[in-house]
Order: sequence, then structure tokens, then C-alpha cells
Amino acid sequence: MIEKVLLERKDLLSAILYSLGEGMVVTDREDKVALLNNHAEEVFGIKREEILGRKLTESINELAVINLFRQVRSEGKEIVNREIGITYPQSKTLSATITPLRSREGNIEGMVALFKDISAVKRMEKEVEEVARLTTLGSLSSWMAHEIRNPLNSIAISLELLQEEVEGLVKEELREEPLRLMKVISDEIHRLNESVHDFLSFDKPPSLNVETTDINQILNGTLSLIQPEAVKRGVKIRKGYRKKLPTVQVDAKKIRQAILNVIINSIQAMPQGGELHLITRSRENWVEIEIRDSGVGIPEKAQEKIFDFFFTTREEGAGLGLSITRKIVNEHGGDIQVESKENSGTRVILRLPLYLGRHKSVALDDYTN
Ligand SMILES: Nc1ncnc2c1ncn2[C@@H]1O[C@H](COP(=O)(O)OP(=O)(O)OP(=O)(O)O)[C@@H](O)[C@H]1O
Ligand SMILES: [Mg+2]
Repeated sequence: MIEKVLLERKDLLSAILYSLGEGMVVTDREDKVALLNNHAEEVFGIKREEILGRKLTESINELAVINLFRQVRSEGKEIVNREIGITYPQSKTLSATITPLRSREGNIEGMVALFKDISAVKRMEKEVEEVARLTTLGSLSSWMAHEIRNPLNSIAISLELLQEEVEGLVKEELREEPLRLMKVISDEIHRLNESVHDFLSFDKPPSLNVETTDINQILNGTLSLIQPEAVKRGVKIRKGYRKKLPTVQVDAKKIRQAILNVIINSIQAMPQGGELHLITRSRENWVEIEIRDSGVGIPEKAQEKIFDFFFTTREEGAGLGLSITRKIVNEHGGDIQVESKENSGTRVILRLPLYLGRHKSVALDDYTN
């Protein structure tokens, strides 16, 4: 009878352990594994027979887990719902609760640990955040389009009327200059309209207008745009272009925009003047553009955020410059690296592949035989 009750209890205990939605590990006085359920096997990618009776530190090779057990042992206090990361059998985020088991005398006789895999929840949290951000960006874009395009339209129409007026009313020999100025306005309207259009297609698949491009020339073109601002701030420009830089197949307009965003950041980072180095080189299958400033630098904490939409430390910044730049270079199969030291300066390296889409054709070649 007693045996039957015990047996039933044992069954009950296993049933509870197995139906527990969490991984459970029980250790004894010597930190040897006394018990673990099937979820714990799954979470840590281990087999019960391999670890029962062995020291925990030898069976679960995860520093975060071992440290938690050590902490409970040394402080004698329970740890509840602590988030930790493990790497084997794959990267996971766990929520861990570890409780010391005490004898009547108060000695720690072992520990009970519960591990819940919360990776999916974490992933979802991240995705929700990203969607929220993109949604904000989406509504911001349509709002901007509306706000900019409407007045832009009326400017364009008024300009056309003005042109007709000038042609009708102003003597022929006096028309040239007003018409030239109106052409400038009309070109700029066109450009602004295109920018709005590009901005709206920010989260759409890329369409690249690829042409053979000399990056040194693009840099010079960009420089002429920012030169007045640089002079005003006392920023000296130092060019270190590689002569005979190989041309690249890129959307020149987009790449100009990408470079401009970085240069503008550098100039803004040197309010008391400084040096701006623009360097180009080719390395293996890449063309590299290095933009280096002697400005305020980026605090280490901010460095991981600078590519986030809307991350800015400037009062008038939108926090879009670098996200747009990264998007553009990524669309070209390139990448961007930033190194920075506070109060000493920032170095940004943009890399563009010499052969656009080369990876694709290599992959295809691999399969034809
Ligand atoms: N060269 C640099 N020196 C110091 N800080 C920089 C530099 N480049 C970027 N940053 C930091 O990164 C942040 C994000 O840059 P990003 O270009 O994306 O946005 P922004 O310049 O603030 O605004 P926007 O470019 O949209 O006008 C900046 O606010 C600044 O804090
Ligand atoms: Mg910027």
C-alpha cells in the first residue's frame, strides 16, 4: 500500500516536472545535478544521462548560468526572473529563477532553478519596436509629401505664369537674366520634387540608376556644395585621392547623397573649425571612401544608435542622415564603418564593390555545370 502511494507520488512528481513549461534543474549540496526535466534538456541541448550526478559547472557550459548559481550559493538569496543569454545549442534569451534549498539549520542543501526560454518574446518585442518606427517613418513621409508637394506645385505653376509674363511684357534684350534665374528656380523645384519622391520610396525596393562613376569626381562635386559652409566654420579640407581610382558601377546621385550626409555630419561636428580629410583608395574588389574629421566625436554609448532612424543629438537634426547613407551603400552591396573617439574625431569608411552584383553572378556560375 505504502509502496503504491510512493509510486503514485513519484509518477505525480514526474508528471509535474514534465508538464512544467519551463526547464528545471535541481542541484545538491555539492552543486551536482540531482534532477532535470525534459525542457531543461531542450533548453541547454544536453542529455539527462550525461549530466545527472555531475557537477553543474562541468555539465552546463554557459558562464551566465554558472555565475547565477554561484551568486545564489555565495549570497544565499533567491534570484527571480533574471534575463540571461546563452549560446548553445543556439543563442537564446532565458528568464532564470534560482532558489536555494535550505535544511532546518539553514544550510544550503541544494538549489532549484527554473529556466524559461523567452527568445520568441524578445524577438517579438524588437519587431514591434521596428514596425512602430517604420510606421512613424511612413506617416512622416506622407505628411512631408503633402506639406512639400502642394506648395511646390503652386510654385511651379506660378513660375510658368511668370515666365509667360516676362516673355510678353519685358523687352527682348532685358529678358535673358530673369529667364536664367527662373530656370534655376525651376531646376531646383525639380530637384526638391525628386528628393521628396526618393524619401517616399525609402522603404520600397531599391531601383538604382547605375552608371560608370568616378568617385573622386563625385567627392569634388560634393565638396563644391559644402565649401562655403566649411570656410565659414574654419574647416580645412585635405584631399587624399588615389590617382586613377577604378570606376564603379553605381547610382551616382544616390552615392553623392550618401557621401554628402557623412560630410555634413563631419562639418557639423567641428563648430570651432578643424580638419576634414577625404581619402579614396581601392582595396581588393572594393573602392573605399574615408571621411575623417577632428570634431567632437561620438560618445561610446551613442555609437550603436547612430544608424537608427531619428537618432540625433543635434537640436535641428532629423536623425536620418546616416540611416539613409547606410541604406544607399547597402543597396549597392557596400557597407559603412564608423570609428570615433570623443573629443578627438570620427572616421567613416564607405566601401563600394568594384563590380555591382558580382556576388550574384558568381553564385550563378557555381551552379552551372
Ligand atoms: N562626424 C560625426 N561627429 C560626431 N557625431 C556624429 C558624426 N556623425 C554622426 N554623429 C552623431 O550621430 C547622430 C546621427 O547622425 P545622422 O546624420 O543620422 O543624423 P543628424 O545629423 O543628427 O540629423 P540629419 O542628418 O537627419 O540632419 C548625430 O546626431 C550625431 O550625434
Ligand atoms: Mg546628419
